Amino acid sequence: MRKIIIAGNWKMNKTNAEAVAFAKELRDKIGKIEKTGIVVCPNYIALAPVNSILKETCAGVGAQDLYWESSGAFTGQVSAEMIESSGSEYVIIGHSERRQYFGETDETVNKKIKRTLTTCCLTPIVCVGETLEQREQGEMKEVIKTQITEGLLGLSSTQMERIVIAYEPVWAIGTGVTASKEQAEEVHLYIRELLKEKFDEQIAEATPILYGGSAKPTNIKELLEQPNIDGGLIGGASLKVDSFVEMIEIAEQMFRG
Ligand code: 13P
Repeated sequence: MRKIIIAGNWKMNKTNAEAVAFAKELRDKIGKIEKTGIVVCPNYIALAPVNSILKETCAGVGAQDLYWESSGAFTGQVSAEMIESSGSEYVIIGHSERRQYFGETDETVNKKIKRTLTTCCLTPIVCVGETLEQREQGEMKEVIKTQITEGLLGLSSTQMERIVIAYEPVWAIGTGVTASKEQAEEVHLYIRELLKEKFDEQIAEATPILYGGSAKPTNIKELLEQPNIDGGLIGGASLKVDSFVEMIEIAEQMFRG
């Protein structure tokens, strides 16, 4: 059975001092968590200090992006190997804010995933999701299908086994409007069907698919109750230790044995 993962995407928030304070508090509050996967994704420069605090805990650390070259004259970029050397285990790839503001495309998402899988042990958390306009025009499935097909192009089944998918409807991110559990479940099930077509049933069943978009302590339970929702990729509500831990504790009680 897929384990539940609660991942926090801090986006461009927290100085190093704030990140360290959060990590210390988190470390002290998750001592009894055994069944739920926990991930926090700080900005690049906070990766090493946050890792050094969380290294003895069950929580993993992830970056929010990477570049597809290992090293060289690419001012401002950070490679998979550099992220791994900070002690991190995860990397978010293809977040809608990267697509919207920084020119990320399915092609660059694919390059980043391939580089990550071939050069290091990081787990990519690959984000897909439609805009409100696309949903209203009835294009949701087409958009998701393209993002999945192009983003995961050329991956072997063994590579796919290392991937986590996050469905993040753009209209639900940071808006306070969460997808209803039915809306989210419909897309998660659809993604699983696409994975079955593209790979096989075993991969489709094994791949964790997280939901992201205004998830918070008051709605996480009903989302996690859906059979195809395996966790949350949480922005705003992951920035305060109390609400982040509350969601982890809810997930822990819902452990799927
Ligand atoms: P919010 O939880 O703030 O809507 O952000 C979701 C998100 O983009 C996580 O990656």
